[in-house]
Amino acid sequence: MAESWWRDAVIYQVYPRSWADSDGDGIGDLPGITARLKHLTDLGVDALWLSPFYTSPQRDAGYDVSDYRDVDPLFGSLTDFDALLARAHELGLRVIVDLVPNHTSSDHEWFQEALRAEPGSPERARYLFRDGRGENGDEPPNNWTSTFGGPGWTRITEPDGSPGQWYLHLFDPSQPDLDWTNPEVGEEIESVLRFWLDRGVDGFRVDVAHGLVKKDGLPDADMPHGYLTDPTSLAPMWDQPGIHDIYRRWRQITDEYARPGDDADRILCAEAWVKPADALARYVRGDELHQSFNFEFLMTPWIAEDMRNTISETLDAAEAVGAPQTWVLSNHDVVRHASRLGFEQSHGLTSPRGIGADDPQPDHALGLRRARAATTVMLGLPGSAYLYQGEELGLPDATRLPDDVRQDPTWERSNHTQRGRDGCRVPMPWEGSTPSLGFGPGAESWLPQPSEYGALAVDRQRGVEGSTLELYRQLLSLRRELRLGRGSLTWFDAGSADVLAFTIAVADGRTVLVLANLGTSPARLPDGARVRVSSSPDGSNGLDVPIDTAVWAEIDHPG
Ligand code: GLC
Repeated sequence: MAESWWRDAVIYQVYPRSWADSDGDGIGDLPGITARLKHLTDLGVDALWLSPFYTSPQRDAGYDVSDYRDVDPLFGSLTDFDALLARAHELGLRVIVDLVPNHTSSDHEWFQEALRAEPGSPERARYLFRDGRGENGDEPPNNWTSTFGGPGWTRITEPDGSPGQWYLHLFDPSQPDLDWTNPEVGEEIESVLRFWLDRGVDGFRVDVAHGLVKKDGLPDADMPHGYLTDPTSLAPMWDQPGIHDIYRRWRQITDEYARPGDDADRILCAEAWVKPADALARYVRGDELHQSFNFEFLMTPWIAEDMRNTISETLDAAEAVGAPQTWVLSNHDVVRHASRLGFEQSHGLTSPRGIGADDPQPDHALGLRRARAATTVMLGLPGSAYLYQGEELGLPDATRLPDDVRQDPTWERSNHTQRGRDGCRVPMPWEGSTPSLGFGPGAESWLPQPSEYGALAVDRQRGVEGSTLELYRQLLSLRRELRLGRGSLTWFDAGSADVLAFTIAVADGRTVLVLANLGTSPARLPDGARVRVSSSPDGSNGLDVPIDTAVWAEIDHPG
């Protein structure tokens, strides 16, 4: 029986423009990544996911692809990609790449052809062009808005100079949505899948996986329809039933590419901001995608009851379809969890879309302490987990970036009401005392690194007892040793509603207690508990667990 490596894999997200810069232009690149891969084996992860490095005008940091089969010169070449993949495989790391099937860049040849062609032509039919409403067609075809702010439609000028049709873009105007009812679109993206599978990648993270299919007739939306609409399927642009046929076809392709023998699978992981949990679980039914990020978990406030509910609801929903959970706390689109958790927590809290210098600032020490505890909980849960670069250093968001350096289109499109995502995208600190903190050979860095990043650099934390980096290494190595990700969870009554506790029965009959204290006084450990790891440097004395701390302990008699 194949081992299905992805069922408990820990996958590390590399954001190529911000991980390591080999040529000193201030933007990270593929050779930079290859040179730093040892960091990931030292850390103890199983795989890396690379955000887009394809040819792109970079209007949405590469999520606007103009050639799906090539590498943007900013990041290197296909030869550099092959070298990265070969080196990763040599080191025993799998590599997942990003796939952006909902939209292309407006620079893509298809969109340029569509602009030159007539309304109603096969070139226009690859995208969602429609006539406008109103007498002169000067109102958008429906009321949909862009996720980055402003209208979801942009009007073009026809080749003869007259005001023309409108096209849909759920994101930036430079990201026109493809029309997935057109078979040509499906064929093209399937051929892109095969292109990268043939090159040897181990899978794909599927961008905006819940957005490809729109409701027939593109009706007006009768409610706000951001990513977090609840339930998502009431919005005519998200989570439409037809989406699942696409993923059944893709699953056949990745299955076809499974390598012979154990540990065979090439995987597909959905970025689907879908609610409720059973709707999300439909993406990971046996003949569809392998994984789907649990964003509900990411958005849950640091409150024991809320955490318990989210974990249990989402585990049940995934188990009902035979899939493992895919946990995540940070990525390139959200405020890092070390900052998010540094704010006061309340039921129903949602994360700000970026933090600016004049916004309320998180408490860094508190945020970091809770973030370390939250990660200790996450890595103790059964299933797979994704880490975002820099979280192993406890990096906070860059919350005081000057507004004039911001590059996320959200800032402009929201008329400066939402700071956007630059704060979590600032280049990695590798060395505490070089000009770009070891990011590149010189001082260049496409976003300025905050001064507090120096003390958090990899070389300042490696081998330092109690550092966040060493905590992550310890958690990952113990998780692997105990095969925690393969275990099964039972809730544990720790005698206080503010304590989140569960046991994991692991393969060799041992039981691991994962206990997190989210309350305001120390939490008691059960008698005989042997603490293996604690998230706080002030640790656990074997009897009590301090506030905002999580531990893994072996116990003899659960319950
Ligand atoms: C996804 C990506 C995000 C991007 C958007 C549009 O949400 O994670 O970074 O801006 O899709 O492609």
